Amino acid sequence: MKQDMIVILDLGSTNNPMLARQIRNLGVYSEIHPHDITVDELKALNNVKGIILNGGENRVVDGQEVDVNPALYECGYPIISVDYPTAKCEKQYGELPDDETLKTFIFDQCKAEANWNMKNFIEDQIELVKRQVGDRKVLLALSGGVDSSVVAALLLKAIGQQLVCVHVNHGLMRKNESESVVEVFENQLHANLIYVDAADRFLDKLAGVADPEEKRKIIGGEFIRVFEEEARQLDGIDFLGQGTIYPDIIESGTKTAKMVKSHHNVGGLPEDLQFELVEPLKQLFKDEVRACGIELGLPGDMVYRQPFPGPGLGVRCLGAITRDRLEAVRESDAILREEFEKAGLDKKVWQYFTAVPDFKSVGMKNHERTFEYMVIVRAINTIDAMTATVEKVDWEVLDKITERILAEVENVNRVCYDMSPKPPSTIEFE
Ligand code: XMP
Repeated sequence: MKQDMIVILDLGSTNNPMLARQIRNLGVYSEIHPHDITVDELKALNNVKGIILNGGENRVVDGQEVDVNPALYECGYPIISVDYPTAKCEKQYGELPDDETLKTFIFDQCKAEANWNMKNFIEDQIELVKRQVGDRKVLLALSGGVDSSVVAALLLKAIGQQLVCVHVNHGLMRKNESESVVEVFENQLHANLIYVDAADRFLDKLAGVADPEEKRKIIGGEFIRVFEEEARQLDGIDFLGQGTIYPDIIESGTKTAKMVKSHHNVGGLPEDLQFELVEPLKQLFKDEVRACGIELGLPGDMVYRQPFPGPGLGVRCLGAITRDRLEAVRESDAILREEFEKAGLDKKVWQYFTAVPDFKSVGMKNHERTFEYMVIVRAINTIDAMTATVEKVDWEVLDKITERILAEVENVNRVCYDMSPKPPSTIEFE
């Protein structure tokens, strides 16, 4: 193993991710683990050099203050406390230790080396994947988004043709997206790729389901079932590869943090799941995933492509999905992307998309009253998807987009621009 590691134990702080990033910025790999990790589990992690107990505002769970396993104090790792009663450095909740305090702990006390970089991370992950998988096979959900593409490239490197990629067209893809997945992965990278057209199956299951969490669970669950069906037709598949990244895990809730929303690749798994998971990116933040993709030699336009949620346009066709509104989301999204490209905004803005709510508003066309849907345009910037600000899109660009959507997209008579940052909004609507 190439990298040293500082383990952060989550005692209910909301700034665990910030602390992990702060340590990584000092050049040392850091992972966040639950407060009740056992000594054996800790020892099974690679190259642990020290432990940070990070207490915080969510430390009381169900009326009980959570605490670490006392045996941890006896196992020889240097330990420092932040926001914690035994803390030497008294801090207010939410405050991070300064770099100097951290450096003293990490480099002087723990004797960690600043050897965290993408090359080492990839080498370590390749070794871990090989160890986990051996000569068996991994089935990968390849949506074509940044995360699954990077995971595919990493797994291809680690296990080559033992990786079987499955691209499920769930009918919730963007315009022409499935076609380009086949082009890049099958024709250019020569991955083992199976293409499944399951659009009707997904849309039938989703008919009439309005609750966002329910929709996510159905899409996630159905996804896994499609994979299981594919796997049964293949020989000896034991593992499921996933493009889970760190924000997915945090937002799906940890032992001390409340759930924000379940993520497609975390919360939606059916209980009878038969695969062991391979998730080599699950400790990475979004910007690190991109750096990983570049290091793996993926083309820049694939790695810097804006993220697309696992449940796809399904969480942008708000409420119960109908085919006419889904088409309106898909077509308006394509127009938005074209116009952003023309204006050079595709390189500048982190994520932009359209959403269509499940209610109609009154309008006018050719002197006649209309009663049709609205398209909401959203364009945001962020570093790690944990917080986001709204792009101040030039009025003329918005004008052009609006004009085109109103002229070209059926069943739409109104266009709105979403001005809400994250928090309090999330990036997606559902
Ligand atoms: P939110 O809406 O949580 O989105 O602020 C943060 C980022 O994650 C993307 N997203 C998902 N990605 N599975 C994913 O892989 C999902 O279920 C999912 N939901 C949201 C979202 O597009 C944004 O970039």
